[in-house]
Order: sequence, then structure tokens, then C-alpha cells
Amino acid sequence: MALNIVVGITGGIAAYKAVSVVRSLVLAGHDVHVVPTESALRFVGRPTLEAISRNPVHTDLFEGVAEVRHVAIGQAADLIVIAPATANSIAKLAAGLADDLLGNTVLASEAPVVVAPAMHTEMWRHPATQANIATLRERGVTVVGPAVGQLTGSDSGPGRLEEPDVIVRAALEVAERRAEAGGRRGAALTDRQDLAGRRIVVSAGGTREPLDPVRFLGNRSSGKQGVAIAEAAAARGADVTLVAANLEVSEPGGCRVRAVSTALELRDAMREASEGADAVVMAAAVADYRPATVSEGKIKKVDGEEHMTVELVRNPDILAELGASAHDGTLLVGFAAETEPDPERLVELARAKRRAKGADLLIVNRVGWSEGFAADENTVSVIGPDDAVVAEVVGSKVSVAHGILDIIAGRLAPGAAPTKEPHSA
Ligand code: C5P
Repeated sequence: MALNIVVGITGGIAAYKAVSVVRSLVLAGHDVHVVPTESALRFVGRPTLEAISRNPVHTDLFEGVAEVRHVAIGQAADLIVIAPATANSIAKLAAGLADDLLGNTVLASEAPVVVAPAMHTEMWRHPATQANIATLRERGVTVVGPAVGQLTGSDSGPGRLEEPDVIVRAALEVAERRAEAGGRRGAALTDRQDLAGRRIVVSAGGTREPLDPVRFLGNRSSGKQGVAIAEAAAARGADVTLVAANLEVSEPGGCRVRAVSTALELRDAMREASEGADAVVMAAAVADYRPATVSEGKIKKVDGEEHMTVELVRNPDILAELGASAHDGTLLVGFAAETEPDPERLVELARAKRRAKGADLLIVNRVGWSEGFAADENTVSVIGPDDAVVAEVVGSKVSVAHGILDIIAGRLAPGAAPTKEPHSA
């Protein structure tokens, strides 16, 4: 179906890549209206944009007043893609400013909005930008990228505009999901139904391996990030099974919950739930070893013995087992929590882990005595199938959950049309 698509271009060096985005959308048969900001036109000329989009290009609020252009373009749009989105334009979008034609177009529209940020790493990581991105995500905007790689200068890191074909794919997927969800419009987070019709299994929490009826070997995982992913996926329309290891949760966001405690119980639950799933996210912290024997009664201390030895046996690696079994059509996502302080070595560890476990994506974060576990904020890097760092996501665990789901949503196998009632929990 041909869509009416607005491509907003803001003033960054990467504006030249927006030409490819426009061209791909036009060649795919869509009616594309380019709305550049004044500064975008300093990077790419209007004649290029008019020739490629095959439509007139407007930027001035005071042109076309008779046809009420400042709202007409947004009202007619089925989809708005802003690429590249600079730190400044993201701030303006978050604040809802309408001092140019693009700002008016976005505010006057109920179409889904896809934003592809591009800026220097420092600007991307700045708390102001991250807060603005979190606001946009919470409002239902899909954020594509930024990619990690060479920037305009000699520096490299997160901030590079995502490749045009990735932006186009993600944007069309968003529009398609909106149409499949019954064309429901509105920008609230819960209205974004891009995972409708998808079945997603998420494990969260930390396993406990009993020594006796009152003691166990456990870990400090709070389960917050995994639960946030499950809840966010359900809010975006997915049918979610949350395999909860030792968590006090009751169906967050309408997820189906399977409570487990040990690694072996988690393994059984995951095997069963992941059959035919579109994505499996292993966010749980699983004990690598369990006590070889579990005492029937409480283990007593022995007078005069200063040391005690507990024999442990290896637990199965659940992610690696899922990775080794055929999982065509199921996107397999693993996590790695590492204490490695050096960011490059951290990414290297994650790459090796992704390969070893046969996961499609691996999400790595740094943990330590005071980092990671119980915090509400998180910073993760996402490693893709070709070992590239596909994204770095920073923010609250809820915002990071949506960032991870944006990446997952863009990589799911083409799926069946959603049913009217995606949550059957
Ligand atoms: O090897 P490591 O524990 O660092 O791997 C972390 C990833 O593997 C996580 O996704 C975790 O859920 C999964 N895992 C597992 N079974 C284990 C250990 C870890 O599925 N026994």
C-alpha cells in the first residue's frame, strides 16, 4: 500500500544520507514529502530533494498560508521519519516546539514518528539528550540507532546515523504494524502496537540453587531490566511469557508469568515457552553451578571445623542450548553482565559470548558492587550477528527496554498479521 510519508531532515552532516532514505521510499512506491529545516538546506540543496522526492519541498512556515500548510502536511501523513535528527531537533521535538514547518508538521500529525539520531558521541550521551530521547520513547516515538562507528571527525563511537536501508525498513515496519493494529492513531506509548501478533519470551531475575531447606546459592540480579522488557513488549502489543526466577511479580502489564526458582526449572520453562516464539530474551542471571547434593534437613555447623567444602556441579547453559537447537524464525537475545572496566574489552567479551552461545543479539552491561543490579538506570551495548555494536542504549531501565525492543522489532522474521486481541494472558 502506498503511504503518504513525511521525511524530516535536520541540520547535520549526515543529511546527505537522507537522500538515500527518500529515494528508497519513493522507489518503494510511496508518496514522499520532504520537510527540511533551514539548516538542513545548508547541507543538501532543495533541487536535489525535489528531484529525488518528486514533490515540491517546503521549509518556510509562511509559505502556502492559504492552504494552511503548517498543519496540512502533518495531518495527511501516514508516517513521519526524521533522519538525521540532531541533538537540537530532538530537544525541540521533546519540548513540542513548533517554530518551523517540521515542528508544526509533527505536532499536527497523529502518524507514527520514527527518529534516527545522528550526532557526536558526547552529545548523544549527554543527560539532556538522553532525557529527551526517553521522553520521545515514552511518547511512542521509535528511535532507530544511532549506530556505533566512525563519526564525521576522526572520532568514532555511538552517534553515527543508522544506515539508510535500516531506517527505511524500521520505518515501514512501524507503519505496517500501525495499519495492522487497526490504524489506531495516537502517540502514547501504549498505543504503539509494533509487536502486535508477536510472541515473546523473557526470562528475568536470578536463580537460587538450594543447599538445604533454608539456604541457597544465589545472585544479586533484581530482575528489573528483564521485567521492564517484558512489560514494554506487552505494552507494544506482544503476547509475552515472563519466566520469573525468584521475583515478586504478578503479571506485569498483562504478561503471562511462570515462576521458577532453580536453573533446572528455568530451563524446563524456557524450553516449553520458547517453542515457536518470535523472540526469546534471556535476561535472567542463571547460576553456572549448583550444589551436588541438597540436604534433606538444615545443615549443622560442626564444632571444631573451621572450613566447610560444598561440592558444586555444572548447570546447563540454557541460552547456549537454545542457540544450538534450530531457532529459525526465533530471534535469540542473550545478556552479559560483566565486571570488566575497559569498554573495548567489555565489548570483546560480549562478542565472544554471543558467538559461543549462538545468540543473534547479545546485550552487555557493566556490573559491579555498586553498578547495574538494583539501579533504575542502565547503559548497555547491543552486539549484532556480525559482531558489530549495533547500538548503545542509555537511560532508565524502562527506556532501555524500549530501546532494546526497537532493535528486536526491526530484526524479527516477517510475521503473521496480528489478531484483534494480542494479549491472551
Ligand atoms: O556465561 P554468562 O553467564 O555470562 O552468560 C550470560 C547469558 O547466558 C545470559 O543471557 C544468561 O541468561 C544466559 N545463561 C544461561 N544459562 C546459564 C548461564 C547463563 O542461559 N547456565
